[in-house]
Amino acid sequence: RQNVKILSTGRFVPERILSNHDLEKMVETSDEWITQRTGIKERRIVDGRTSTTDLAVQAARNAMQKAGILPDEIDVVIVATVTPEMFFPSTACLVQKELKLKNAFAFDISAACSGFIYGMAIATQFIQNGFCKTALVIGAEALSKITNWSDRSTCVLFGDGAGAAILTASSEEGILGFELGSDGENGLLLYCHAFGLSDLSYSQFKDMPNFRKIYMDGNEVYKFAVKIMPYAVEKVLEKVGLSSSDIDVFIPHQANIRIIESAAKRLKIPMEKVFVNLHKYGNTSAASIPIALDEAIEEGKIKKGDKIVLVGFGGGLTWASCAVKW
Ligand code: ACO
Repeated sequence: RQNVKILSTGRFVPERILSNHDLEKMVETSDEWITQRTGIKERRIVDGRTSTTDLAVQAARNAMQKAGILPDEIDVVIVATVTPEMFFPSTACLVQKELKLKNAFAFDISAACSGFIYGMAIATQFIQNGFCKTALVIGAEALSKITNWSDRSTCVLFGDGAGAAILTASSEEGILGFELGSDGENGLLLYCHAFGLSDLSYSQFKDMPNFRKIYMDGNEVYKFAVKIMPYAVEKVLEKVGLSSSDIDVFIPHQANIRIIESAAKRLKIPMEKVFVNLHKYGNTSAASIPIALDEAIEEGKIKKGDKIVLVGFGGGLTWASCAVKW
């Protein structure tokens, strides 16, 4: 099988910062509560005119520039998002248009916060079996557009942004393996309505503050997260013949510092090896892992030969992990 490696990464976050203190003016909350319960201090929020596609395009451009990849060289574009501005065309097709990726085929996937790793897994299959050579995988979200700004239990958690990676065929080992999973049975612990409701349900729901906004049973999602993160990591390590002590850099989905610390503890990974940037961005769903990966690289945290593990969990419910030799 063809080896696949991550050639480059990129990111983009909107300029506008919404701090915990700003939120204190919007809902009954405090910087102290948010910091203690989540670790989040601030998040980035798009303005009214900026779409998920705009964020995705900037992150993709950044990744392509770093690798010196030309638009014609991209064979496939995969965008993971739960906040597309249109049902169709897909965000990936809108990115294709903007970046003039004329040789690519493009599509979106919906796997919430696990979406970027799902996208990497799909791209890896295409490259491993020779169907494609170079893939652009993007996680992009404008979650602020589906946030219920009057619900203090969720509005303090989320932020906007995008991250991207270029995956390519390689002579060297790179991506070692994946673990993907989902539990549709418990999907309604975390959801956002789309269309397709019957007229009756529409009239029942349409005036609710949460209609087409994020709903989350925080406590249940928390319990799921602290169990599934170590499970997904152990599974992928087992598949690729590594143990958690082999991990040099651990890049978890940036939802909540308590969830990350609990997972690291269960896996016996010291926090020095764990990359955390959620204090700056909050939970950016599908964008969180590629943004973190890009920042970890930029900060010199990842060296050639390092074993890194990415892990995500979220709506669906879904989970995903990926082991990489850098
Ligand atoms: N400010 C102040 N008080 C608050 C706030 C707030 N922003 N939000 C809730 N509270 C109150 C509650 O009303 C409750 O008060 P009560 O005891 O009087 O009823 C109290 O704080 C405790 O609430 P809990 O929900 O028990 O607080 P908990 O410690 O569980 O933290 C949190 C809540 C942070 C949401 C946590 O459950 C969590 O992180 N869950 C997982 C969230 C997550 O990661 N989701 C994303 C996964 S998927 C994705 O990324 C899209």
